[in-house]
Amino acid sequence: MNALRRLAIVLVLLPWGLVQASATSPGQAALATAHPMATAAGREVLEAGGNAFDAAVAITAALAVVEPYSSGLGGGGFYLLHDAASGRDVMLDARERAPGQATRDMYLDDEGNPQPDRSVDGALAAGIPGIPAALDHLAADYGALPLTTTLDPAIRAAREGFEVTEMYRRLAGFREAVLAADPGSRSIFLDGGKLPAIGHVIRQPDLAETLERIAIEGRDGFYQGELAGRLVDGVRKAGGIWCRSDLAGYRVVEREPIISRFRGFEVVSAAPPSSGGVAIAQILNTYGALARRAGELDDLSVLGLHYRVEAMRRAYRDRAEYLGDPDYVDIPIERLTSDDYAAGLAVGISPTDATPSSSLAPVVTEPEGPHTTHFSVMDADGNYVAATLSINYPFGAGVTVPGTGVLLNDEMDDFSQKPGVPNVYGLVGAEANAVQPGKRPLSSMSPAFVRSDDLVGVLGTPGGSRIITMVLGGVLAATRGEPVDDWVTGPRIHHQYLPDRIEVEPGLLSDEQRAELELMGHRIEVNDGFGNMQAVAWWRGDGRLEAASDPRGEGRAAVFAPEAP
Ligand code: DON
Repeated sequence: MNALRRLAIVLVLLPWGLVQASATSPGQAALATAHPMATAAGREVLEAGGNAFDAAVAITAALAVVEPYSSGLGGGGFYLLHDAASGRDVMLDARERAPGQATRDMYLDDEGNPQPDRSVDGALAAGIPGIPAALDHLAADYGALPLTTTLDPAIRAAREGFEVTEMYRRLAGFREAVLAADPGSRSIFLDGGKLPAIGHVIRQPDLAETLERIAIEGRDGFYQGELAGRLVDGVRKAGGIWCRSDLAGYRVVEREPIISRFRGFEVVSAAPPSSGGVAIAQILNTYGALARRAGELDDLSVLGLHYRVEAMRRAYRDRAEYLGDPDYVDIPIERLTSDDYAAGLAVGISPTDATPSSSLAPVVTEPEGPHTTHFSVMDADGNYVAATLSINYPFGAGVTVPGTGVLLNDEMDDFSQKPGVPNVYGLVGAEANAVQPGKRPLSSMSPAFVRSDDLVGVLGTPGGSRIITMVLGGVLAATRGEPVDDWVTGPRIHHQYLPDRIEVEPGLLSDEQRAELELMGHRIEVNDGFGNMQAVAWWRGDGRLEAASDPRGEGRAAVFAPEAP
């Protein structure tokens, strides 16, 4: 080949090579979190040369400081990770575990009746936290920067403080009595025992020190040594049952996510002990079978919504019966997520009539806690993380362990207190999710990826039992090719088997559609705004990168090109 011809080939291939490079990495970074200071923390770390996993560390820690009602070092969560170099997806399970002294009947009185407050308020409600171990694991196995760098924005925020917002006031108001009853929480989260005014600055010097300890010593700074001693003493003085061995024995677990296929998209979500991925797969498979039966199906038509609701109803029923911690119970995941199983369910779904939930097998639904958080982040190299983190109820158990700044979770309420008996929220559970020492309570948290040749979507939301159906709504919007703003803002529709009613946000159904669904036998409740979705979309075809933060919350999204540090 002569030199001229070689040069011509190189010139032709050069732009093609560039196109290929831009198709395998976004070249910019994008993120969306539930608080502007957490978005700023993630951005700072990405600008400093960190990858998406470093940003996940920084965002998690910042949220622990500025959203104390949603997540924290005293809580847990699930991280869905995508590593661009290996192409691997991993679920990092940082869910809380029941303490070793937990017993099956610990929330029942002498007559065997549930005492629901005991699993919600106070130190007995707290599982062993997973977030500090997740920070260490992310930094050690996936990050490029040390914890001393990635935890720095959160340490500064804890020391310098953050301003009380409307949402803070609303959620602190919801938990005011519990916060006021605990001296640690009262002195930090209230102002002279009262709800702080908007703009009041919350400073957390003890939490700053705890974060510094983790930055220097890693997981041992929290689960071993002096801080562990303080945590155990504080919890036991407040009526809890933690032991040093519970903390020393806590481990995060890497698990294979649940993958399903729908309309040519691959949907990746959380594996048990979250019910999210299994339920989403089951709903998509059933809905897909019904759509094929219908020929053409518009997701937002009456028939589309009816079929979606019927698929949700059945998936939540199965969730109740079969799902729990996979380290303790056998879960028929393959069966529940198979096309054959969905085809069988679809056969029992009428195109014209709602199926009363009472005609299906026995009850179980999931707690609806009013807070939790989610963030989505993608770096310029195409690594990405979807993480849903929680301490369960707003401000968790309401107890802050003295000298640590650690606000305890009340995630033990996600166990079923007594199989078959509803708790104060009308919820019942099954054997698979009964309390056992060391066990992880069943969750609905569903961080998710939705992918095709053209799209990488990263999404999730808080919202208790409604998380699953909100993520499903985001996934369906993605498969319709809608922009990421529409995934997060789209009006929501939910059914969870029991109570037997559809919950919808205003704006989804026209009066005629509502009347038609009611005629089919559906009960409909219009509900004001739920969830706080954070999503990132990378449209590989044209290289567009988008991020969106749910206007129902106070979060912020950003897309930017990190400068070389
Ligand atoms: O793990 C769960 O499913 C619950 N603890 C999540 C609670 C929640 O999302 C509350 N949010 N609004």
